[in-house]
Amino acid sequence: MKWLLSIGAGVEQVEPIKIAQAMGYKVVAMDGNANAPGLNIADRSLNIDISDKVEVLTEVRKCNVSGIIPSPIGKCLTTIGLINDELSFPGISAAAAERCTNKKIFHDLLSRNHFLRPSQSEVFQMTQIPLELKFNDYPLIIKPCNGSGSKGVIVVQSEEELEQALMDLSKLEEVQDWLIESFIEGTEYGVDAVVIDGKFQLLMIREKTLSNLPYRQAIQVSGPANLTELQIKSIAECLERAAQVLEMNNCILHADVLLLQEGVCIIEMAGRPSGQMISSNIIPLATGLNVIQEGIKISLGINADFTINDSRPVALTYFTHSIHPKIIEKYEKNGEILKFKQTEHDSSDVIQITNGTDLSGAGYIITTGLNLAEAQSIGDTIIKQGGDYNEDRSEYSKIKQ
Ligand SMILES: Nc1ncnc2c1ncn2[C@@H]1O[C@H](COP(=O)(O)OP(=O)(O)O)[C@@H](O)[C@H]1O
Ligand SMILES: [Mg+2]
Repeated sequence: MKWLLSIGAGVEQVEPIKIAQAMGYKVVAMDGNANAPGLNIADRSLNIDISDKVEVLTEVRKCNVSGIIPSPIGKCLTTIGLINDELSFPGISAAAAERCTNKKIFHDLLSRNHFLRPSQSEVFQMTQIPLELKFNDYPLIIKPCNGSGSKGVIVVQSEEELEQALMDLSKLEEVQDWLIESFIEGTEYGVDAVVIDGKFQLLMIREKTLSNLPYRQAIQVSGPANLTELQIKSIAECLERAAQVLEMNNCILHADVLLLQEGVCIIEMAGRPSGQMISSNIIPLATGLNVIQEGIKISLGINADFTINDSRPVALTYFTHSIHPKIIEKYEKNGEILKFKQTEHDSSDVIQITNGTDLSGAGYIITTGLNLAEAQSIGDTIIKQGGDYNEDRSEYSKIKQ
Protein backbone atom coordinates (compact mmCIF):
# COMPACT_ATOMS: atom_id res chain seq x y z
CA MET A 1 0.00 0.00 0.00
CA LYS A 2 1.46 3.32 -1.08
CA TRP A 3 1.30 6.39 1.11
CA LEU A 4 0.73 9.95 -0.05
CA LEU A 5 1.41 13.14 1.82
CA SER A 6 -0.97 16.03 2.38
CA ILE A 7 0.75 19.25 3.36
CA GLY A 8 -2.07 20.93 5.24
CA ALA A 9 -5.32 19.34 6.39
CA GLY A 10 -7.69 22.32 6.31
CA VAL A 11 -11.00 22.62 4.47
CA GLU A 12 -9.18 22.91 1.14
CA GLN A 13 -7.34 19.62 1.74
CA VAL A 14 -10.36 17.53 2.79
CA GLU A 15 -11.54 16.69 -0.74
CA PRO A 16 -8.03 16.03 -2.10
CA ILE A 17 -7.35 13.65 0.83
CA LYS A 18 -10.61 11.80 0.09
CA ILE A 19 -9.74 11.59 -3.60
CA ALA A 20 -6.34 10.05 -2.79
CA GLN A 21 -8.01 7.51 -0.50
CA ALA A 22 -10.62 6.70 -3.16
CA MET A 23 -7.71 5.94 -5.51
CA GLY A 24 -6.55 3.34 -2.97
CA TYR A 25 -3.71 5.25 -1.29
CA LYS A 26 -3.13 5.83 2.40
CA VAL A 27 -2.68 9.43 3.42
CA VAL A 28 -0.46 11.03 6.00
CA ALA A 29 -1.62 14.59 6.68
CA MET A 30 0.23 17.37 8.47
CA ASP A 31 -1.22 20.58 9.84
CA GLY A 32 -0.24 23.01 12.58
CA ASN A 33 -3.88 23.36 13.57
CA ALA A 34 -4.81 20.38 15.74
CA ASN A 35 -8.47 20.89 14.80
CA ALA A 36 -7.90 20.86 11.03
CA PRO A 37 -10.71 18.67 9.63
CA GLY A 38 -8.42 16.67 7.32
CA LEU A 39 -6.50 15.32 10.31
CA ASN A 40 -9.55 13.26 11.26
CA ILE A 41 -9.91 11.85 7.77
CA ALA A 42 -6.28 11.00 7.03
CA ASP A 43 -4.91 7.54 7.78
CA ARG A 44 -2.13 9.11 9.80
CA SER A 45 -2.10 12.63 11.18
CA LEU A 46 0.72 14.81 12.40
CA ASN A 47 0.06 18.07 14.18
CA ILE A 48 3.08 20.06 13.01
CA ASP A 49 3.57 23.55 11.66
CA ILE A 50 3.76 23.09 7.88
CA SER A 51 5.70 26.33 7.46
CA ASP A 52 8.53 24.79 9.51
CA LYS A 53 10.28 23.20 6.55
CA VAL A 54 13.05 21.52 8.56
CA GLU A 55 10.64 19.77 10.91
CA VAL A 56 8.29 18.79 8.10
CA LEU A 57 11.15 17.32 6.08
CA THR A 58 12.44 15.37 9.09
CA GLU A 59 8.99 13.87 9.62
CA VAL A 60 8.42 13.19 5.92
CA ARG A 61 11.68 11.25 5.72
CA LYS A 62 10.32 8.87 8.39
CA CYS A 63 7.02 8.35 6.57
CA ASN A 64 7.95 6.56 3.36
CA VAL A 65 5.53 8.53 1.20
CA SER A 66 5.53 8.15 -2.60
CA GLY A 67 4.21 11.58 -3.56
CA ILE A 68 2.36 14.71 -2.51
CA ILE A 69 -1.36 15.31 -3.00
CA PRO A 70 -1.82 18.58 -4.90
CA SER A 71 -4.20 20.88 -3.08
CA PRO A 72 -5.02 24.59 -2.85
CA ILE A 73 -2.37 26.02 -0.55
CA GLY A 74 -0.85 29.45 -0.02
CA LYS A 75 2.69 30.23 0.96
CA CYS A 76 3.38 26.68 2.24
CA LEU A 77 3.66 25.68 -1.41
CA THR A 78 7.35 26.31 -0.72
CA THR A 79 7.33 23.44 1.81
CA ILE A 80 5.91 21.20 -0.93
CA GLY A 81 8.60 22.46 -3.31
CA LEU A 82 11.36 21.56 -0.84
CA ILE A 83 10.01 18.03 -0.29
CA ASN A 84 9.70 17.52 -4.06
CA ASP A 85 13.36 18.57 -4.46
CA GLU A 86 14.67 16.53 -1.55
CA LEU A 87 12.73 13.34 -2.31
CA SER A 88 12.88 13.74 -6.10
CA PHE A 89 9.11 13.73 -6.54
CA PRO A 90 7.83 15.13 -9.82
CA GLY A 91 6.25 18.48 -8.94
CA ILE A 92 6.93 22.13 -8.38
CA SER A 93 10.45 22.88 -7.17
CA ALA A 94 11.28 24.98 -4.10
CA ALA A 95 12.67 27.75 -6.31
CA ALA A 96 9.59 27.87 -8.54
CA ALA A 97 7.31 27.79 -5.48
CA GLU A 98 9.19 30.79 -4.06
CA ARG A 99 8.84 32.65 -7.36
CA CYS A 100 5.08 32.29 -7.36
CA THR A 101 4.28 32.69 -3.66
CA ASN A 102 6.41 35.79 -3.10
CA LYS A 103 4.57 38.56 -4.94
CA LYS A 104 7.69 40.76 -5.08
CA ILE A 105 9.88 38.09 -6.70
CA PHE A 106 6.99 37.20 -9.02
CA HIS A 107 6.52 40.82 -10.03
CA ASP A 108 10.20 41.52 -10.62
CA LEU A 109 10.68 38.41 -12.73
CA LEU A 110 7.62 39.00 -14.88
CA SER A 111 8.38 42.70 -15.30
CA ARG A 112 11.94 41.89 -16.40
CA ASN A 113 10.46 39.55 -18.98
CA HIS A 114 8.14 42.24 -20.36
CA PHE A 115 4.84 40.94 -19.03
CA LEU A 116 2.07 43.45 -18.49
CA ARG A 117 2.08 44.25 -14.75
CA PRO A 118 0.71 46.88 -12.37
CA SER A 119 3.30 49.15 -10.75
CA GLN A 120 4.42 47.79 -7.41
CA SER A 121 5.96 49.38 -4.31
CA GLU A 122 8.93 48.06 -2.38
CA VAL A 123 8.09 45.57 0.36
CA PHE A 124 7.30 47.36 3.62
CA GLN A 125 6.43 46.49 7.21
CA MET A 126 3.55 48.14 9.02
CA THR A 127 5.95 49.19 11.75
CA GLN A 128 8.01 51.19 9.28
CA ILE A 129 5.75 52.40 6.50
CA PRO A 130 7.88 54.34 4.03
CA LEU A 131 6.92 58.00 3.98
CA GLU A 132 7.17 58.05 0.23
CA LEU A 133 5.11 55.16 -1.08
CA LYS A 134 5.87 56.53 -4.53
CA PHE A 135 2.30 56.13 -5.66
CA ASN A 136 0.15 59.18 -6.13
CA ASP A 137 -2.30 57.68 -8.53
CA TYR A 138 -5.29 56.17 -6.83
CA PRO A 139 -6.86 53.63 -6.80
CA LEU A 140 -4.19 51.44 -5.20
CA ILE A 141 -4.35 47.97 -3.75
CA ILE A 142 -2.60 46.82 -0.57
CA LYS A 143 -1.79 43.15 -0.14
CA PRO A 144 0.48 40.79 1.80
CA CYS A 145 3.67 39.89 -0.04
CA ASN A 146 2.96 36.19 0.60
CA GLY A 147 -0.82 36.19 0.75
CA SER A 148 -3.57 33.93 -0.49
CA GLY A 149 -7.36 33.86 -0.55
CA SER A 150 -7.50 37.69 -0.79
CA LYS A 151 -6.73 37.89 2.95
CA GLY A 152 -5.55 41.39 3.84
CA VAL A 153 -6.26 42.69 0.33
CA ILE A 154 -7.83 46.17 0.32
CA VAL A 155 -8.39 48.68 -2.48
CA VAL A 156 -7.95 52.34 -1.52
CA GLN A 157 -9.10 55.40 -3.45
CA SER A 158 -7.58 58.26 -1.45
CA GLU A 159 -4.89 59.14 1.05
CA GLU A 160 -7.42 58.98 3.90
CA GLU A 161 -8.52 55.51 2.84
CA LEU A 162 -4.90 54.46 2.55
CA GLU A 163 -4.14 55.59 6.09
CA GLN A 164 -7.25 53.90 7.45
CA ALA A 165 -6.52 50.68 5.57
CA LEU A 166 -2.92 50.58 6.78
CA MET A 167 -4.16 51.02 10.33
CA ASP A 168 -6.75 48.24 9.95
CA LEU A 169 -4.33 45.89 8.24
CA SER A 170 -1.64 46.37 10.87
CA LYS A 171 -3.89 44.24 13.11
CA LEU A 172 -3.07 41.23 10.93
CA GLU A 173 0.02 40.49 12.97
CA GLU A 174 0.79 37.25 11.14
CA VAL A 175 1.63 39.26 8.00
CA GLN A 176 5.13 40.72 8.05
CA ASP A 177 5.69 42.03 4.55
CA TRP A 178 3.26 44.18 2.60
CA LEU A 179 3.07 45.55 -0.93
CA ILE A 180 1.12 48.26 -2.68
CA GLU A 181 0.21 48.00 -6.34
CA SER A 182 -1.61 50.24 -8.75
CA PHE A 183 -5.14 48.91 -8.99
CA ILE A 184 -5.90 47.89 -12.56
CA GLU A 185 -9.48 48.02 -13.76
CA GLY A 186 -10.33 45.15 -16.05
CA THR A 187 -12.38 42.00 -16.28
CA GLU A 188 -10.87 39.32 -14.11
CA TYR A 189 -10.78 35.63 -14.93
CA GLY A 190 -9.57 32.62 -13.00
CA VAL A 191 -7.55 30.09 -14.97
CA ASP A 192 -6.71 26.43 -14.41
CA ALA A 193 -3.99 24.73 -16.38
CA VAL A 194 -1.37 22.04 -16.08
CA VAL A 195 2.21 21.65 -17.20
CA ILE A 196 3.66 18.18 -17.66
CA ASP A 197 7.21 17.60 -18.91
CA GLY A 198 7.28 21.23 -19.99
CA LYS A 199 4.09 20.93 -22.00
CA PHE A 200 1.42 23.47 -21.08
CA GLN A 201 -2.29 22.63 -21.26
CA LEU A 202 -5.14 25.02 -20.55
CA LEU A 203 -7.97 23.37 -18.60
CA MET A 204 -10.57 26.00 -17.85
CA ILE A 205 -11.12 29.75 -17.74
CA ARG A 206 -13.65 30.98 -15.20
CA GLU A 207 -15.61 34.19 -14.81
CA LYS A 208 -15.63 35.84 -11.39
CA THR A 209 -17.99 38.18 -9.61
CA LEU A 210 -16.08 40.06 -6.96
CA SER A 211 -17.33 41.51 -3.70
CA ASN A 212 -17.81 45.26 -3.59
CA LEU A 213 -14.81 47.45 -3.02
CA PRO A 214 -12.70 47.75 -0.98
CA TYR A 215 -12.49 43.94 -0.79
CA ARG A 216 -11.67 41.61 -3.65
CA GLN A 217 -13.19 38.26 -2.88
CA ALA A 218 -14.86 36.13 -5.55
CA ILE A 219 -18.47 35.57 -4.50
CA GLN A 220 -19.49 33.83 -7.70
CA VAL A 221 -17.22 31.73 -9.90
CA SER A 222 -18.46 30.17 -13.09
CA GLY A 223 -17.31 28.66 -16.28
CA PRO A 224 -16.27 27.84 -18.88
CA ALA A 225 -16.05 31.61 -19.44
CA ASN A 226 -17.71 33.23 -22.42
CA LEU A 227 -14.67 34.26 -24.40
CA THR A 228 -13.68 34.31 -28.05
CA GLU A 229 -11.14 31.83 -29.41
CA LEU A 230 -8.72 34.71 -29.74
CA GLN A 231 -9.13 35.76 -26.10
CA ILE A 232 -8.67 32.17 -24.92
CA LYS A 233 -5.55 31.88 -27.07
CA SER A 234 -4.04 35.07 -25.70
CA ILE A 235 -4.62 33.96 -22.08
CA ALA A 236 -3.16 30.51 -22.79
CA GLU A 237 -0.09 31.90 -24.58
CA CYS A 238 0.58 34.42 -21.82
CA LEU A 239 0.35 31.79 -19.07
CA GLU A 240 2.43 29.28 -21.03
CA ARG A 241 5.23 31.82 -21.34
CA ALA A 242 4.89 32.76 -17.65
CA ALA A 243 5.15 29.09 -16.64
CA GLN A 244 8.42 28.91 -18.62
CA VAL A 245 9.80 32.08 -17.06
CA LEU A 246 8.83 30.94 -13.55
CA GLU A 247 10.19 27.45 -14.38
CA MET A 248 7.05 25.73 -13.19
CA ASN A 249 6.88 22.11 -14.28
CA ASN A 250 4.95 18.93 -13.51
CA CYS A 251 2.22 20.69 -11.60
CA ILE A 252 -1.32 21.97 -11.81
CA LEU A 253 -1.43 25.73 -12.34
CA HIS A 254 -3.79 28.33 -11.02
CA ALA A 255 -3.87 31.98 -12.15
CA ASP A 256 -5.85 35.18 -11.76
CA VAL A 257 -5.69 37.32 -14.89
CA LEU A 258 -7.12 40.60 -16.09
CA LEU A 259 -8.12 40.86 -19.71
CA LEU A 260 -7.19 44.35 -20.89
CA GLN A 261 -7.15 46.12 -24.24
CA GLU A 262 -3.35 46.04 -24.15
CA GLY A 263 -3.27 42.31 -23.44
CA VAL A 264 -3.36 39.86 -20.55
CA CYS A 265 -2.16 40.99 -17.12
CA ILE A 266 -1.37 38.15 -14.71
CA ILE A 267 -2.25 39.22 -11.17
CA GLU A 268 -1.16 35.96 -9.62
CA MET A 269 -0.04 32.53 -10.78
CA ALA A 270 0.92 29.52 -8.68
CA GLY A 271 1.88 25.89 -9.20
CA ARG A 272 -1.07 24.41 -7.36
CA PRO A 273 -4.78 23.80 -7.95
CA SER A 274 -7.37 26.58 -7.42
CA GLY A 275 -9.14 26.86 -4.10
CA GLN A 276 -12.71 27.69 -3.16
CA MET A 277 -13.90 24.26 -4.32
CA ILE A 278 -12.99 25.05 -7.91
CA SER A 279 -10.70 22.04 -8.34
CA SER A 280 -12.85 19.59 -6.41
CA ASN A 281 -16.26 20.80 -7.68
CA ILE A 282 -16.38 23.34 -10.50
CA ILE A 283 -13.84 21.73 -12.84
CA PRO A 284 -15.19 18.17 -12.44
CA LEU A 285 -18.81 19.35 -12.77
CA ALA A 286 -18.09 21.52 -15.81
CA THR A 287 -15.62 19.28 -17.64
CA GLY A 288 -15.82 15.78 -16.16
CA LEU A 289 -12.11 16.02 -15.32
CA ASN A 290 -10.98 14.98 -11.84
CA VAL A 291 -8.10 17.40 -11.75
CA ILE A 292 -6.85 16.43 -8.26
CA GLN A 293 -6.82 12.73 -9.16
CA GLU A 294 -4.75 13.40 -12.27
CA GLY A 295 -2.49 15.73 -10.26
CA ILE A 296 -1.83 12.89 -7.81
CA LYS A 297 -0.71 10.76 -10.76
CA ILE A 298 1.79 13.47 -11.76
CA SER A 299 3.26 13.39 -8.26
CA LEU A 300 3.56 9.59 -8.41
CA GLY A 301 5.28 9.76 -11.79
CA ILE A 302 2.55 7.78 -13.51
CA ASN A 303 0.70 8.73 -16.68
CA ALA A 304 -1.85 11.44 -16.05
CA ASP A 305 -4.70 12.19 -18.43
CA PHE A 306 -6.05 15.72 -18.43
CA THR A 307 -8.21 15.25 -21.51
CA ILE A 308 -11.42 17.22 -21.36
CA ASN A 309 -14.34 15.37 -22.92
CA ASP A 310 -17.26 17.27 -21.56
CA SER A 311 -18.34 20.87 -21.22
CA ARG A 312 -21.35 22.29 -19.45
CA PRO A 313 -21.94 25.67 -17.82
CA VAL A 314 -21.55 25.70 -14.06
CA ALA A 315 -21.82 28.55 -11.55
CA LEU A 316 -20.92 28.48 -7.87
CA THR A 317 -22.58 31.25 -5.87
CA TYR A 318 -21.89 31.94 -2.21
CA PHE A 319 -24.46 33.27 0.23
CA THR A 320 -24.49 34.17 3.88
CA HIS A 321 -28.17 33.82 4.76
CA SER A 322 -30.21 30.64 4.90
CA ILE A 323 -32.17 29.59 1.84
CA HIS A 324 -35.69 28.26 2.24
CA PRO A 325 -35.82 24.50 1.43
CA LYS A 326 -38.88 25.03 -0.80
CA ILE A 327 -36.85 27.19 -3.16
CA ILE A 328 -34.15 24.55 -3.38
CA GLU A 329 -36.76 21.87 -4.02
CA LYS A 330 -38.20 23.84 -6.93
CA TYR A 331 -34.89 24.20 -8.74
CA GLU A 332 -33.73 20.70 -7.84
CA LYS A 333 -36.74 19.31 -9.67
CA ASN A 334 -35.63 21.10 -12.80
CA GLY A 335 -32.14 19.62 -12.48
CA GLU A 336 -30.61 23.07 -12.22
CA ILE A 337 -28.97 22.56 -8.82
CA LEU A 338 -25.87 20.39 -8.94
CA LYS A 339 -24.83 20.90 -5.34
CA PHE A 340 -26.10 22.88 -2.38
CA LYS A 341 -24.82 23.64 1.09
CA GLN A 342 -26.83 25.63 3.57
CA THR A 343 -24.96 28.35 5.40
CA GLU A 344 -23.65 27.46 8.83
CA HIS A 345 -24.52 30.95 10.06
CA ASP A 346 -27.69 31.93 11.82
CA SER A 347 -29.91 33.65 9.27
CA SER A 348 -29.90 36.80 11.36
CA ASP A 349 -26.12 37.06 11.09
CA VAL A 350 -24.85 39.07 8.18
CA ILE A 351 -21.18 38.33 7.74
CA GLN A 352 -19.07 40.69 5.78
CA ILE A 353 -17.12 38.93 3.07
CA THR A 354 -13.64 40.36 3.08
CA ASN A 355 -11.60 37.28 2.18
CA GLY A 356 -11.74 33.57 1.43
CA THR A 357 -11.67 32.59 5.10
CA ASP A 358 -14.99 34.35 5.67
CA LEU A 359 -16.57 32.06 3.10
CA SER A 360 -15.70 28.85 4.91
CA GLY A 361 -18.97 28.98 6.90
CA ALA A 362 -20.96 30.48 4.07
CA GLY A 363 -23.43 28.43 2.09
CA TYR A 364 -23.04 27.83 -1.61
CA ILE A 365 -25.08 26.66 -4.50
CA ILE A 366 -23.76 25.17 -7.71
CA THR A 367 -26.11 25.60 -10.63
CA THR A 368 -26.23 24.77 -14.31
CA GLY A 369 -28.36 26.01 -17.19
CA LEU A 370 -28.63 26.09 -20.94
CA ASN A 371 -25.72 28.50 -21.05
CA LEU A 372 -23.37 30.22 -18.62
CA ALA A 373 -25.56 33.31 -18.20
CA GLU A 374 -28.48 31.09 -17.23
CA ALA A 375 -26.40 29.06 -14.74
CA GLN A 376 -25.27 32.34 -13.14
CA SER A 377 -28.70 33.89 -13.08
CA ILE A 378 -30.34 30.82 -11.51
CA GLY A 379 -27.74 31.05 -8.70
CA ASP A 380 -28.45 34.78 -8.31
CA THR A 381 -32.22 34.29 -8.34
CA ILE A 382 -32.22 31.52 -5.76
CA ILE A 383 -30.15 33.62 -3.45
CA LYS A 384 -32.21 36.74 -3.86
CA GLN A 385 -35.46 34.82 -3.30
CA GLY A 386 -34.06 32.56 -0.68
CA GLY A 387 -33.66 34.44 2.57
CA ASP A 388 -36.46 34.59 5.05
CA TYR A 389 -35.77 38.13 6.10
CA ASN A 390 -36.76 41.02 3.91
CA GLU A 391 -34.90 44.15 4.62
CA ASP A 392 -31.27 44.02 3.63
CA ARG A 393 -32.07 40.50 2.49
CA SER A 394 -28.52 39.33 2.34
CA GLU A 395 -24.96 40.46 2.34
CA TYR A 396 -24.88 38.85 -1.08
CA SER A 397 -27.53 41.11 -2.57
CA LYS A 398 -25.73 44.06 -1.05
CA ILE A 399 -22.42 43.12 -2.53
CA LYS A 400 -23.62 41.84 -5.86
CA GLN A 401 -25.22 44.94 -7.32
N1 LIG B 1 -2.92 45.25 -9.07
C1 LIG B 1 -4.18 44.82 -9.06
N2 LIG B 1 -5.11 45.41 -9.83
C2 LIG B 1 -6.41 44.99 -9.80
N3 LIG B 1 -6.86 44.02 -9.01
C3 LIG B 1 -5.97 43.39 -8.21
C4 LIG B 1 -4.59 43.74 -8.19
N4 LIG B 1 -3.97 42.95 -7.30
C5 LIG B 1 -4.91 42.15 -6.78
N5 LIG B 1 -6.12 42.40 -7.31
C6 LIG B 1 -7.40 41.79 -6.93
O1 LIG B 1 -7.29 41.22 -5.64
C7 LIG B 1 -7.46 39.80 -5.69
C8 LIG B 1 -6.48 39.15 -4.73
O2 LIG B 1 -5.16 39.50 -5.10
P1 LIG B 1 -4.02 38.42 -5.27
O3 LIG B 1 -2.77 39.12 -5.63
O4 LIG B 1 -4.48 37.35 -6.18
O5 LIG B 1 -3.88 37.90 -3.78
P2 LIG B 1 -4.20 36.47 -3.12
O6 LIG B 1 -2.91 35.75 -3.20
O7 LIG B 1 -4.61 36.81 -1.73
O8 LIG B 1 -5.28 35.82 -3.94
C9 LIG B 1 -7.25 39.45 -7.16
O9 LIG B 1 -7.94 38.28 -7.49
C10 LIG B 1 -7.79 40.67 -7.86
O10 LIG B 1 -9.21 40.66 -7.89
MG1 LIG C 1 -5.39 35.42 -6.01
